[in-house]
Amino acid sequence: MCRFWDISLIICFSVSVMFVGGDNISELPPPPQNLTFIWETPFRLSLTWEKPEDLDRSCIVNYTVNVHHSQECSGKYDSRRVQALGCKLNISNEKGLCISVTTNLENCGKSGSSQATNISIAPPSVRLVENRSYEYSHSKMNCTWIPVVDVQDLSLYYWLPRYESVKKCIPDETLKPRGCIIHDEFLKDTLDIFYLFNGTYNGTSVFNTFTDERPVKYVKLNKPQLTIHKDRQKLIFQANGSDLDEFAKECYSYIYTISKCNKNSTVKDKEHYEVQYDPACKYRARVQVDFSQKCGAGKSDLSDEVEYGEDSDPKLPALLAVIIIPLIVSLCLLVSLVLLRRHKDIIFPQIPEPSLLFKDMLINNIRTPEELQSPATGRLYIPLEEVVESKISLEPDTPFVPMMKNEPK
Ligand SMILES: *[C@@H]1O[C@H](CO)[C@@H](O)[C@H](O)[C@H]1NC(C)=O
Ligand SMILES: *[C@@H]1O[C@H](CO)[C@@H](O)[C@H](O)[C@H]1NC(C)=O
Ligand SMILES: *[C@@H]1O[C@H](CO)[C@@H](O)[C@H](O)[C@H]1NC(C)=O
Ligand SMILES: *[C@@H]1O[C@H](CO)[C@@H](O)[C@H](O)[C@H]1NC(C)=O
Ligand SMILES: *[C@@H]1O[C@H](CO)[C@@H](O)[C@H](O)[C@H]1NC(C)=O
Ligand SMILES: *[C@@H]1O[C@H](CO)[C@@H](O)[C@H](O)[C@H]1NC(C)=O
Ligand SMILES: *[C@@H]1O[C@H](CO)[C@@H](O)[C@H](O)[C@H]1NC(C)=O
Ligand SMILES: *[C@@H]1O[C@H](CO)[C@@H](O)[C@H](O)[C@H]1NC(C)=O
Ligand SMILES: *[C@@H]1O[C@H](CO)[C@@H](O)[C@H](O)[C@H]1NC(C)=O
Ligand SMILES: *[C@@H]1O[C@H](CO)[C@@H](O)[C@H](O)[C@H]1NC(C)=O
Ligand SMILES: *[C@@H]1O[C@H](CO)[C@@H](O)[C@H](O)[C@H]1NC(C)=O
Repeated sequence: MCRFWDISLIICFSVSVMFVGGDNISELPPPPQNLTFIWETPFRLSLTWEKPEDLDRSCIVNYTVNVHHSQECSGKYDSRRVQALGCKLNISNEKGLCISVTTNLENCGKSGSSQATNISIAPPSVRLVENRSYEYSHSKMNCTWIPVVDVQDLSLYYWLPRYESVKKCIPDETLKPRGCIIHDEFLKDTLDIFYLFNGTYNGTSVFNTFTDERPVKYVKLNKPQLTIHKDRQKLIFQANGSDLDEFAKECYSYIYTISKCNKNSTVKDKEHYEVQYDPACKYRARVQVDFSQKCGAGKSDLSDEVEYGEDSDPKLPALLAVIIIPLIVSLCLLVSLVLLRRHKDIIFPQIPEPSLLFKDMLINNIRTPEELQSPATGRLYIPLEEVVESKISLEPDTPFVPMMKNEPK
């Protein structure tokens, strides 16, 4: 009997411990209640909620607010934690919104986060514009767009969180397809900018709100100029932009596209860039100014193309070997043959006939008896005069020999 009671008591106790313990573990903090919203301005959404019921007064509680930029409560979201029973968001509603709020508890036994309480906000009933784009320079921003529906009095307003109310973007007929210009000294420094398009559509006043990146992400720079010059063995590329005074010098970099002997390459450098010069190559180059990531984003147009040097024809040596050299050689040969023929007498002088020479020597050396007795009157051998030039040639003839013989008499 006693044993039975003991056993039932033990079973009972352990079951109750298990039940109570299990209950505490599975219980999450309660979610916030009665979540509501109101648009205070087209860009300011005010949220309020109430503290969950049956929560101990001593509990430390705060709330997580997640904002999804679509009606579905899924995908990317912005998150923030607040201790109050509400918050105000600077926000636009382009594609609808989903807002979810959870309770976070501390030192209450129940710890962790509750389930979410969600609200969903519908997008505007009509979309007025698409393909918005911006170009910023020197406190001015050109905004352009394509209208989607026919709205006669469509206007664009903008708002910076530092302002009480919206300001008008001044319409400009020259901007295509439609556009206006914001002139505001705070554009450069603002982190948030909101836009509002409104007009009358189908008899009722409608508006759309948007937000895009801060203005310095849409910097537009003027087309730069590029010059190329040579300094000793270096080729120097010099970029010159006309509107690079708005931001710090470090914000700008230069992208050079250089074609050397028809091979393209791209380098990012300062406004001054140099390479080793190759005289055999033609250089073509362009430059583009880049507004760097840490200051914002943007680019200039490409500069005009600038050229330097000439390509030496790579076929020339082959052409030289195959055609030109043999041509020159044969021409030289031809000319020398003609010259040779014309001046053959100078180049190859006429050699006197040896038989004639010997005969002459013999005749000259025959001595008379008187001549033998007086050797003083002994005549020397007088050779025939050599013929050098045909024009003044004195061809030896036979009458010349007796004349010489008779001379001493
Ligand atoms: C379970 O929760 C209750 C209050 O709801 C508390 O008194 C009890 O101590 C908790 N038990 C455990 C095991 O945490
Ligand atoms: C929440 O709203 C409901 C009506 O929707 C109301 O009955 C209830 O009292 C509200 N809760 C609180 C805590 O005010
Ligand atoms: C509320 O939104 C969250 C995402 O933030 C989602 O996980 C949850 O299912 C939603 N709850 C309801 C009741 O729709
Ligand atoms: C909110 O509560 C969590 C714990 O629940 C805590 O870690 C966090 O610091 C709290 N945040 C604020 C802003 O109180
Ligand atoms: C708007 O831009 C998208 C790409 O961003 C393009 O496909 C579309 O054709 C553009 N719409 C018009 C009307 O030009
Ligand atoms: C903005 O538009 C005006 C008028 O068409 C033009 O003169 C100016 O260069 C543009 N500014 C920029 C930064 O594109
Ligand atoms: C929202 O705008 C107000 C000015 O209306 C500003 O005081 C507040 O800091 C802004 N909030 C955020 C999160 O930027
Ligand atoms: C557009 O909004 C501005 C500023 O809020 C307002 O002055 C103007 O009357 C509105 N125009 C239309 C057609 O709703
Ligand atoms: C214009 O408004 C009328 C009612 O005011 C509605 O019946 C009609 O469908 C609307 N047209 C468009 C194109 O939204
Ligand atoms: C850049 O060009 C402008 C004229 O286009 C000229 O006035 C200026 O001196 C040039 N600057 C440099 C560094 O060459
Ligand atoms: C090199 O760049 C020029 C423009 O500067 C372009 O026309 C050409 O197609 C490019 N060649 C190659 C091989 O990429």
